[in-house]
Amino acid sequence: MVYLNGEFMPIERAKISVLDRGFIFGDGVYEVIPVYSRRPFRLEEHLVRLRSSLEAIKIGNPHENAKWGELVGRIIAGNPWEDQNVYLQITRGVAKRDHAFPKGLKPTVFMMASELIPPTPELMETGAAAIVLPDFRWLRCDIKSTSLLGNCMLRTQAAEAGCAEAILVREGMLTEASASNVFIVRNGTVLAPPKSHLILPGITYDVVLEILRANAIAHEVRPVGESELRSAEEVWVTSSSREVLPITTLDGRPVGRGENAGKPGPVAKRVHDLYQQFKLSVMRAPVHA
Ligand SMILES: Cc1ncc(COP(=O)(O)O)c(C=O)c1O
Repeated sequence: MVYLNGEFMPIERAKISVLDRGFIFGDGVYEVIPVYSRRPFRLEEHLVRLRSSLEAIKIGNPHENAKWGELVGRIIAGNPWEDQNVYLQITRGVAKRDHAFPKGLKPTVFMMASELIPPTPELMETGAAAIVLPDFRWLRCDIKSTSLLGNCMLRTQAAEAGCAEAILVREGMLTEASASNVFIVRNGTVLAPPKSHLILPGITYDVVLEILRANAIAHEVRPVGESELRSAEEVWVTSSSREVLPITTLDGRPVGRGENAGKPGPVAKRVHDLYQQFKLSVMRAPVHA
């Protein structure tokens, strides 16, 4: 079951105009909210990010948070999986094709769900492969825009190289990956590039930083150079669907040195375990009205 503009319906019935600015210009924003045991994870934080994406492109937020919560709850209830990705998209709406934002449009609101399948234990054992590519996207990667052509091109290049992810570098500095944030470990310290217009402020990124802080794991949020990425002891990508996934080869070369080379490192394993515990604790917490 999906939701479109006030109605719940089977996906086959969900239809929009070809003049929708989401179709014509990619003029819209989105969120993907992970759901565990039918409970949304970090819903408030996703709704805060949605609000700032909408503000950045001057679309009025169609709903208050309480209403969003209710709609997300109904989508969860209307779909068969215990663990889901709830996808939510808002476009500016339907208008005659003209680049400048027309005023007074009714935004198109769409939601759907899919099964959430986190990385398998086997993948966590081996880690994933990534390639490093130049970040040629625009300069407002902090907006969770549906215009994802750059990300799609980069991810396709990674897939064609047999890799799970493309890790991106702009002017010699690590930004993020095509659909995830990136952390590295150097000299035992976890390093994360700071939030800026050049990266998406990941909800998982924030959870990981909270976990590092709460467990006194050495870390620094600071710009990370490409050479630091390439000589890191560990590299991980984080996202709602991939959680904390170790990258064990970069451009075909093993990440790390010595006995850990090409294998998930100890810090990644620890943070992954802490992330699982954190998820469980949130799922067991009482539900607030
Ligand atoms: C470009 C990009 N960066 C980072 C992320 C991670 O964000 P989150 O942790 O909120 O899933 C995503 C998620 O899809 C993304 O597309």
